[in-house]
Order: sequence, then C-alpha cells, then structure tokens
Amino acid sequence: MTVAPIVRAAPNQTELLSVDADYLWHPWSPSRVSPDTLVAVAGEGCEVRDADGRTYLDAKSSGLNATLGYGCRAVTDAISAQLAQLMTYDMGEGANVPAIRLAQRIAGLTGPRLTRTFFCNSGSEAIETCVRIARFYHAVREDTGRTLIVSLDTSYHGATMAAAACSPAATPVAPEVAPGGFVTVPGPGRTEGPGHAEGSGGHPADPGPGPDPAADGADALREFLAEHGSRTAAVVLEPVQARGAQVASDAYLRAVRALCDRHGVLLILDEVTTGFGRTGLMFGYQHSGAEPDILATSKGLAAGYMSLAAVTTTQHIFDVFDRNKERAGFVHGHTHSGHAAACAAGLAVIDVIEKERVLANVRAREAQLFTALEAVRPLPHLREVRGRGLLIALETDGSRRAARIRARMRQDGILVRRTGRNILLAPPLIITETETARLAGALTAAVEAVAGDAG
Ligand SMILES: Cc1ncc(COP(=O)(O)O)c(C=O)c1O
Repeated sequence: MTVAPIVRAAPNQTELLSVDADYLWHPWSPSRVSPDTLVAVAGEGCEVRDADGRTYLDAKSSGLNATLGYGCRAVTDAISAQLAQLMTYDMGEGANVPAIRLAQRIAGLTGPRLTRTFFCNSGSEAIETCVRIARFYHAVREDTGRTLIVSLDTSYHGATMAAAACSPAATPVAPEVAPGGFVTVPGPGRTEGPGHAEGSGGHPADPGPGPDPAADGADALREFLAEHGSRTAAVVLEPVQARGAQVASDAYLRAVRALCDRHGVLLILDEVTTGFGRTGLMFGYQHSGAEPDILATSKGLAAGYMSLAAVTTTQHIFDVFDRNKERAGFVHGHTHSGHAAACAAGLAVIDVIEKERVLANVRAREAQLFTALEAVRPLPHLREVRGRGLLIALETDGSRRAARIRARMRQDGILVRRTGRNILLAPPLIITETETARLAGALTAAVEAVAGDAG
C-alpha cells in the first residue's frame, strides 16, 4: 500500500479519519474509527477541541487520566525543563533525580507503612508488577503453596495477561491461554450478575430493603478465604470501580483488610483510577483507613501528561526481597521504569494538587453533582446513581438507552463515557462550579429526554 500524505496543513476531521481508517489499529473494540470519532487537536482546562474546531467539555478526562485537565503549564513546563536537561537515565543500573524525588514524595503521602515505590508505565504494568511481587513474596518466605490471586468479578485491572486474568468480565481471555491461579468472588453485597450493584455503597437511587446495613458485604470473600486462605497470595480490588463507579464501602474495605491479616494474604489496592485525588482524598483507601500492603497508581500520577505508574509497597515487603536477594532476586523491570521526564511530571502534578486545593474542589463538585442529580433519581429507567468524589455512574436500564444519553450529551458539547448500561462521569478534578452546573443540566435533560424511548 502506498502511504498517502495528509496534504493540508490543518486537515479536518474527515480527512484525518480517512487516513486513520487505513493505518491505525485503535485499542479496544471496535479497533477502527467511525465517522463520529473525535480527533482531538488541542485542549485547555476541561475543554478539548476537535479537528473541525468544535469544543467539548470533557467530562471523562480523556481516559479518566487528564485529572488536571488540558494545558496545565506547571506540568508542561516541568516536563520541558526535564527533557532539556536529561530525558531519562536507566534505573536498572543507575538512578535519576526526579525518580528519587518522586519516590520520596509518594512515601510522604502514603507512609509511614507504604514507603517503597517501583515505577512502571501503565496501570496494567502496575497490576502485573503487584501480582509478581505478591507471589514472589510468599515464595521467598518459602510459603510456596500461596499462588492464588483473588479479585472481584466486576473489576477491571488492565489488559496485559495477569491484569486481564484479574478482570475476566471486562477483558475475557480464552481459557486455553489464560494464566492459572486467578479466581474471582462476587463483590460487596451483590446478589446478581455483573452490572447489578445493590448495596455497593455510594448514593443508591432507591434505598429499598437492600442488604443488611450492619453487614460488611464481605461474606463471599470470607467464605473463599476460609476454605482457600492458605493457598491465596493476594486479594486485589479497587476502592471505587472504574468501570461502573461501584464503591467498596469503608466497612467492606476494613473487613477485607482484617480477613487478609487473618489468613496471611496480601492486600493489593488498585488505585490506578482513584489514586491522586479522584475520590476527594489523595488515595481512595484513606476514606476507610484500611491500608493496603501494595498500592498501584497511575492515571492521576502524571495526569495524562506522561505515561507513568507506581507500585508502592510496605517496607516489610521490600525487606523480605532485599534480605533474600542472593537467592531470589526480583528480576522484573522496564526500560522506562522511572523515566525522568515522567517523574518530573508526577512531581509537578502533586504540587498542583496541593497548592491549588484540588481535593477540596473534588469534594465540593461531588456534592454539587449529587445534589443536581437528585432530579433524575426517581425516573424509572434509572437504576442507581452512585460513586465517590468525581467518579460517578448513572446506571440505566439498558445499554442502548445509555448510548442515546451519551449521544445527546455529545450533541450538547459534553463528552461522557458509557460502560454497558452506565453513564460514567469522571471530569477533570479542576472542573469549575459553572462547568459542573452545565454538565449536570445537560445530563438531566438527556436522561429525561430518553425516558419515553424503549430501553
Ligand atoms: C482500576 C484500573 N486498573 C488498571 C487499569 C489499566 O491501566 P492502563 O490502561 O494504564 O493499562 C485501569 C485503566 O482503566 C483501571 O481503571
């Protein structure tokens, strides 16, 4: 095939999409563009502009990662300065200044138990790393029967092999090629299949009879560990699930922590989406006080400005590896582990979160959104409004209805994400009061407008 150049200096959407259709393989399915695919060319604050000059309020933060919105000068300046000085230096046989500083800075936010950070490039790599650390940890201590990794059946932990094996509903892997030793249990208080989230915490639309409020929702895990605890290496879960904003209640997380302690199992918290402010605190686990043994973060760490992820463990876990390094070194890493410009971005992002009181904004906008969405809660085609911080889902009665809501929002110049029958809101954490009012108004109108349609 001959490569056709894009001839015009500022090609429009149609021109770009026709070239895209011939050469790009997009992630996820469908892997090809459709005529309404948005080709983004610029962004400022919470708005993104397409190649035809239309601007949109991006209420999904690109892929839930643009947590500080677009064009944040403090971050782009830090990256440019670091690139000009030293783009990176291999962490396998050396170190670089931003990686050292960022690891120390993260320990200041997660400590005193969680002190050791291993850098990688994506959320999936972080989960892959967590799984390897957990299994190695037990093996090094000669507790060799502990290999099982337990996740919740509605979770999403990524698309690489181990991460996908932890997320069978979201990223199914054919049984013939699926890695062994991964098990799922139902999530907190859920009695139906994936997508039904009774008693999942957050803000249920209809409190109804629901599950026993005194119950912690951890019975499925309790039963599993009672039988298989001695074979289990780790439990992995998200404080708020990124796909449908199902909230693991504080009571649930504390119960899981206690169960892990009782059975000698490590607790991995996947805060790839919730970490660095999304829930209104720096980390989702801080609402419950139930600290993990291993914490995975990514999206909010470099806020979409660079590709960066972190796995932060307790000093105890690091010491176990360190003491046994002759016998069982941890042979794991990536060329770009601790990339200097990415770590410079991370440092700048944390500065912005702290100096610009971003967490307080998240909590104020969360309250504003939930109050505004009261208007649509009673609608019969809406099953639940739930979430925490600026990760909120409206669960409708069907995926086609959710698709129509999303399409109407786009016509109104607002981008939201749809996952199955959920409309997911995850705007940048810097969204203003005025933008939030616009988002809530358009969403309310879209939800009401599709009331008469078939689900
Ligand atoms: C909770 C969670 N874990 C892991 C991942 C995977 O991250 P990545 O897409 O960077 O590999 C995601 C991505 O959406 C996520 O939301």
